[in-house]
Amino acid sequence: MKKKLEPINLLYPTPTVLVGTVVDDTANFITIAHVGIVNNARPFLISLSMGKIHHTNTGIKENKAFSVNIPSESLVAETDYVGLVTGKKVDKSKLFELFYGKLKNAPLITSCPVNMACRLHDTYDTPTHDLFIGEIVETYADESVLDGNAVNIARVKPLLFDMSSKKYWSLGPALADCWRVGMTIKKKNWG
Ligand SMILES: Cc1cc2nc3c(=O)[nH]c(=O)nc-3n(C[C@H](O)[C@H](O)[C@H](O)COP(=O)(O)O)c2cc1C
Repeated sequence: MKKKLEPINLLYPTPTVLVGTVVDDTANFITIAHVGIVNNARPFLISLSMGKIHHTNTGIKENKAFSVNIPSESLVAETDYVGLVTGKKVDKSKLFELFYGKLKNAPLITSCPVNMACRLHDTYDTPTHDLFIGEIVETYADESVLDGNAVNIARVKPLLFDMSSKKYWSLGPALADCWRVGMTIKKKNWG
């Protein structure tokens, strides 16, 4: 039996990322779980839904640049902390060792195994949130999480965010091959 719930969003888990920019000449980071993929071909566009109240939004609007860093399980406490305190009151710039690519206002976090530097492509203005659309202009990955040029997600160990339990979850084992496991049904029904 199904129970009808309020029309709430249950589109979880999502990956938890650390988004960086520069505000008032200081690097600042925010923890974001409401992150999405717009497309997977050039130009590579991603979306971030960020409450207008946040300090980081000011920097993204000013610089038109931001970084998206994927923390591993080992950075769970730091990731949570970045999402607990605001750069309006606390300097979060010294928490991580940083490096920069060609976008000078997109601070990249060395200890995160995957980093993307984004140029602001568009902002969708909602009453409560800025939906930032960024174009990925540079991507970095630790060699330890790479198989050739492909990222091995099992070695990244991303933090999966779930709103219902309000917990970070680990990635489980791979289940099946995409665009392949359904072929048995396709063949049976349509040849
Ligand atoms: C796990 C986690 C996920 C979060 N996801 C989002 C999110 O997707 N969008 C958002 O606006 N705030 C999100 N937050 C809240 C911000 O990270 C938090 O308010 C942060 O302190 C804002 O920092 P800033 O004011 O320095 O920009 C999240 C916090 C946590 C702990």
